[in-house]
Amino acid sequence: MNNFELYNPVNYVFGKGQIEQLKDLVPNKKILIAYGGGSIFKNGVYDQVKAALPTHDVVEFGGIEPNPRYETLMKAVEIIRKEKIEFILAVGGGSVIDGVKFISAAVNYEGDAAEILRKRILFKDVSKVIPFGTVLTLPATGSEMNSGAVVTIEATQEKLTLGGSALFPVFSIVDPTVIISLPKRQLQNGVVDAFTHVMEQYLTYTHDALLQDRISESILQTLIEIGPEVVENPSDYKLASNFVWSATMALNGLIQKGVPSDWATHMIGHELTALYEIDHARTLAIIAPSLYKVMFETKKDKLAQYGQRVWNITGNSTEEIAEKAIEKTVEFFHTMGMKTKISENTENYENTADFIVSRFEERGWKAMGEKQNITPEKVREIVEMSY
Ligand code: NZQ
Ligand code: ZN
Repeated sequence: MNNFELYNPVNYVFGKGQIEQLKDLVPNKKILIAYGGGSIFKNGVYDQVKAALPTHDVVEFGGIEPNPRYETLMKAVEIIRKEKIEFILAVGGGSVIDGVKFISAAVNYEGDAAEILRKRILFKDVSKVIPFGTVLTLPATGSEMNSGAVVTIEATQEKLTLGGSALFPVFSIVDPTVIISLPKRQLQNGVVDAFTHVMEQYLTYTHDALLQDRISESILQTLIEIGPEVVENPSDYKLASNFVWSATMALNGLIQKGVPSDWATHMIGHELTALYEIDHARTLAIIAPSLYKVMFETKKDKLAQYGQRVWNITGNSTEEIAEKAIEKTVEFFHTMGMKTKISENTENYENTADFIVSRFEERGWKAMGEKQNITPEKVREIVEMSY
């Protein structure tokens, strides 16, 4: 097992009716409530938030889009500087929470805030960022309990990451009943995003971190068990609560400790969203199966372990079980409403591989994956196999 540090300061507040806890969790300071395109007004979440904060001095900032835009977030940064806001409350899905992480980092950043993304500045000093809490409305990203974020620069169609230990939420309120109003498409996305987060940290090579593997496998099994049902019946509390907790556990840092990780599916997937606005989770369902095939030699032992333990696949050889495990994964993505080819999600995709490869080369991303053997040539193969 690799050495590790486990640091996660998020006060994670889970369950029915927990939004009212905001009254004790939000400091009595001037706050900004940040939200997205307005779903919170339709499903009653906004009313619950306001009811919990009757006497707070509140400024509101709406319109953070899915795949949050740097250009939009900078408007909130200006408001915070002007209004001297001391705490931010993010109310929404991964996009709103990620957007707030960027805002939190950018307010006191000296220099061009786009550098935060382009140079991937790490934020470690909590005194330099604006503290924030979250009310999660969409289980998927784990952003409610991690310190990472993804922001798109509209002008250049770049989807880039930021993070650092200062960017954990102070608290996150996670009430599983808020998923009732989610469109089926977003519920499907949430299951597949969470599933792929586990795969990025688990599906590498076999190692001796036994517990991490077992935790990862149990999250995958839980998502396989409840995923198809929860998208049909999000008001079932047993399904909803297990879904939400699985999504958080998939990317709150725990299963990544002491083990290798990949993340190339995400890096390539982000480009598909930047280019074609394909939903984040749907890009993962497109790329992951091709990546497992192209990187088969590196991953086959772990694919076989995954096949045996998660899908109960039997076979005569590692290769046979590993291949069946990829097929099962694709079947699961289809069950979850994913279309697993680029051509099924967008038109005019012929230059995608050229574009992504040259972008990765410009950024110096020449050796990705758990063994740093996903080279630009491999990226090309993966993307072309996904057409
Ligand atoms: O904007 P509103 O009106 O709120 O509507 C949203 C949005 O249209 C809607 N929605 C959210 N909660 C709802 C709801 N509609 C009805 N009822 C509710 N309870 O759902 C739509 C999608 O929301 P969004 O926040 O974009 O989805 P998600 O949570 O999947 O976040 C995706 C973003 O997170 C990034 C992705 O790249 C993408 O930009 N990721 C962040 C990660 C992280 N911070 O660790 C890791 C992930 O891998 C991912 O990259
Ligand atoms: Zn993801």
